[in-house]
Amino acid sequence: MSDNKRPLRSAEWFGSADKNGFMYRSWMKNQGFPDHAFQGRPVIGICNTWSELTPCNAHFRKVADHVKQGVIEAGGFPVEFPVFSNGESNLRPTAMFTRNLASMDVEESLRGNPVDAVVLLVGCDKTTPALLMGAASCDLPTIVVSGGPMLNGKHQGKDIGSGTVVWKLSEQVKAGRISMHDFMAAEAGMSRSAGSCNTMGTASTMACMAEALGTSLPHNAAIPAVDSRRYVLAHLSGNRIVEMVHEGLILSKVLTREAFENAIRVNAAIGGSTNAVVHLKAIAGRIGVDLQLDDWTRIGRGTPTIVDLQPSGRFLMEEFYYAGGLPAVLRRLGEAERLPHREALTVNGKTLWKNVADAPLYNDAVIRPLDNPLCDDGGISVLRGNLAPRGAVLKPSAASPELMKHRGRAVVFDNFDHYKTRINDPELDVDANSVLVMRNCGPKGYPGMAEVGNMGLPAKLLEQGVTDMVRISDARMSGTAYGTVVLHVAPEAAAGGPLAAVRDGDWIELDCDVGKLHLDISDAKLAARLAEHDPTAASRTLASDGGYRQLYIQHVLQADEGCDFDFLVGRRGADVPAHSH
Ligand code: FES
Ligand code: MG
Repeated sequence: MSDNKRPLRSAEWFGSADKNGFMYRSWMKNQGFPDHAFQGRPVIGICNTWSELTPCNAHFRKVADHVKQGVIEAGGFPVEFPVFSNGESNLRPTAMFTRNLASMDVEESLRGNPVDAVVLLVGCDKTTPALLMGAASCDLPTIVVSGGPMLNGKHQGKDIGSGTVVWKLSEQVKAGRISMHDFMAAEAGMSRSAGSCNTMGTASTMACMAEALGTSLPHNAAIPAVDSRRYVLAHLSGNRIVEMVHEGLILSKVLTREAFENAIRVNAAIGGSTNAVVHLKAIAGRIGVDLQLDDWTRIGRGTPTIVDLQPSGRFLMEEFYYAGGLPAVLRRLGEAERLPHREALTVNGKTLWKNVADAPLYNDAVIRPLDNPLCDDGGISVLRGNLAPRGAVLKPSAASPELMKHRGRAVVFDNFDHYKTRINDPELDVDANSVLVMRNCGPKGYPGMAEVGNMGLPAKLLEQGVTDMVRISDARMSGTAYGTVVLHVAPEAAAGGPLAAVRDGDWIELDCDVGKLHLDISDAKLAARLAEHDPTAASRTLASDGGYRQLYIQHVLQADEGCDFDFLVGRRGADVPAHSH
């Protein structure tokens, strides 16, 4: 029995001797729970994104079992419940399309049910932000347990990384440098254990963000999925969440402005995914922290990337954990006075710095010294100009330094299908200096803002040995991808943004040093071109089909606002709703 001094939220269901208490308790008892199992104990929701259609999260029933053991041991009553599982690998048009849907599922499941706190089981890219967004809107005591990354992929005796190897090998097949047989063999070796992508893609990035934000126990981000220490961490998280109920340690005490500033700095140090820009904004919006795109410049730029992981570097998440994991990175940043807020509170009740001040670091090749980084400036480059009035982003550590200041002529694709039909046309007027521009791939235009921004290069240029070109779009790109790729152009073409006005042959200027993205035509000409046609026509047709897609297109915010739905922004709390009978 708990010795709680705070009234339990769950007592509003289970604590009364009337008709309502009878109903809530009696139906729960059909699962075989004796009275003392849940009477007066903190009820801990285990919010599970398990699904066999989300392979990265397919081992989560077992993770949940270990969380339960920890909850029971600490005197709580665990209840596992499913929420929409938006897996990256299977879901079309993109898992991002359902991130907000999943967040609504989480929010309403928490508020409407007898839970005092929640453990979020997350793994695949969008599951982490979706669950944190929903939980932030409710603001109960909350702890994140990630499923952990897959073991290193193996191919022809070498390590291969999730996603990154797909982009590399598919370009090599196109350029005629490897056989289809080798390509297929790599497919078999890439994903050889339970877990999420083992590169520093979006899943690993968001797991690191959850840890840097203070919402998980130390080391949550990097312990491999199949390492027994992953299950120990799940057990300990189960212990801890019960204590958090007694302490009243709600999510908003952890998700402060300071926590987000730490996370932005950490994203630069780990060479994290550009998707983090959108997701952190959305989570911040839910909890009520005013995060701006320019905060990424202010806090992130100038921070060296010291984690040498693919896609920017060499290693994979297994090596990252064995080298010391995120605590070692935090310690290294902190010792160099580069961790903005050491005193930020974390879910274990200690400060971020207290957790990592003595963290061991075992391998300087994987977690490099600050004076010998993988990339001098790992921050996200925020770009603005007449082509992106509300901003765009580029990941310097994945880009070619010589292309980060570039002037070239546009080759324009109206959408992803147009790109696919046109890119390998031998007659296409394109050379290595051209700038590939794609539009109608943003939040409303795709819809869902798919990860198609890292457009593959024209086969004829690949054959000539060209490995990178400047690419610009209103899309996102996979965290496992690389290249000099300008993403998240806001507003998007389908929302009337200036990408809609670009024509083949226009000169475009990119300058990451000063954060500039400029279409070299006069303001008058730009306005005239935009007035000429209706860029929103395509998405309006899609929206008129009804269903969730209609809701999505009508309410999704632009990339600089985190692509949340306008009506979901904010913290609504978890006041107990009216009785159902
Ligand atoms: Fe699920 Fe990469 S596809 S983590
Ligand atoms: Mg991904």
